[in-house]
Amino acid sequence: MKRTLLITGGAGFIGSHVVRRFVTKYPDYRIVNLDKLTYAGNLANLRDVERCPNYVFERGDICDLDFVCDRMQRYAVDGVIHLAAESHVDRSIRDPFTFARTNVLGTLSLLEAARRCWDGKWEGKLFYHISTDEVYGALGLDGGLFTETTPYAPHSPYSASKASSDHFVRAYHDTYGLPTLVTNCSNNYGPYQFPEKLIPLMINNIRRRKPLPVYGRGEHVRDWLYVEDHARAIDAIFHGGKVAETYNIGGFNERRNIDLVRTLIRTTDRLLGNPEGYSDGLITYVADRAGHDLRYAIDSSKLERELGWRPAVSFDEGIERTVRWYLENEAWLDEVVSGEYERYYERMYGAR
Ligand code: NAD
Ligand code: TYD
Repeated sequence: MKRTLLITGGAGFIGSHVVRRFVTKYPDYRIVNLDKLTYAGNLANLRDVERCPNYVFERGDICDLDFVCDRMQRYAVDGVIHLAAESHVDRSIRDPFTFARTNVLGTLSLLEAARRCWDGKWEGKLFYHISTDEVYGALGLDGGLFTETTPYAPHSPYSASKASSDHFVRAYHDTYGLPTLVTNCSNNYGPYQFPEKLIPLMINNIRRRKPLPVYGRGEHVRDWLYVEDHARAIDAIFHGGKVAETYNIGGFNERRNIDLVRTLIRTTDRLLGNPEGYSDGLITYVADRAGHDLRYAIDSSKLERELGWRPAVSFDEGIERTVRWYLENEAWLDEVVSGEYERYYERMYGAR
């Protein structure tokens, strides 16, 4: 094998797309997927690659330093792409400690494992940390974009934990010389996203004729990126990005939540053969999220300039593909919301 990469959180939404891309595109790389399989991790997301000879799955917790060190040594890992995290803002409001543990202490433990294993032999090594645009705080509706130099101003326990982890990553570079790199990406959407996040939640509720909870008046704006475009950016940055740099990754694609929900209704109704307007009445305005950031929007011109990356999938195309995928994979949806697969993993691997 030419290289061995440790991808953390590879059984989650974005991680599964990254694992699939690297396993299939680079048969001479060994890909070790390290995932705890929390409620958000699902090995069914990787069925199509699990038998590939260059793919290995290791169930474990990134907070377990001894375990991570052992696996890094055992597989002679020379690159880390770190995606494992608690990722849902609403959960972070209810349970901030879990976010601090996984996102801050877990990242610290991975950094320390990499520092010990690579032990100053930095040549050919890279620790690539995947972060979010939410660390930059909120923008107003009257314009402006987050750049790589926008000061950090997180508002939710989720974004505060990600901001903290980003600082640790940069500190490990500046203090110990660990070759690190950070990217901050906007909201992703596409297949295999857990249906607690806006887009799959709405599709799932439309098909089940359940209320579509829109926080506040639905005027909040997010910048949406199709997940395969994110995986393509990660590939380009892993191979061509500069150590110690930060790259913003965005969709050039801002949408107000309420407009997005209406698009999802139109697309889902059409694909289900429902008459136009059939599900409009499901929209339900609910109490706003605490500390809800009004607008996120990313300037990813640095990435375009330096590595030639731009999103390849248009919003219309991405939404069409996404709605189709969830409607064609209802068994996956039903399984992840039923908790059935959690019980299955408990039987297979013990309690989480
Ligand atoms: P996800 O919640 O779908 O998946 C997270 C994965 O991490 C799961 O497989 C889970 O089992 C695993 N995990 C959680 N705790 C772990 C632990 N202690 N040890 C090992 N594995 C653990 O998340 P996602 O949406 O795919 O996000 C992946 C990464 O990308 C996160 O770091 C997130 O902050 C970042 N990000 C996400 C978005 C987005 O829109 N989803 C945007 C920008 C950045
Ligand atoms: P979400 O998918 O949770 O991503 P994030 O909070 O990380 O941006 O939410 C996207 C937007 O949709 C955000 O402005 C909150 C809003 N939202 C709703 O209006 N209703 C919902 O049920 C959810 C989950 C989110």
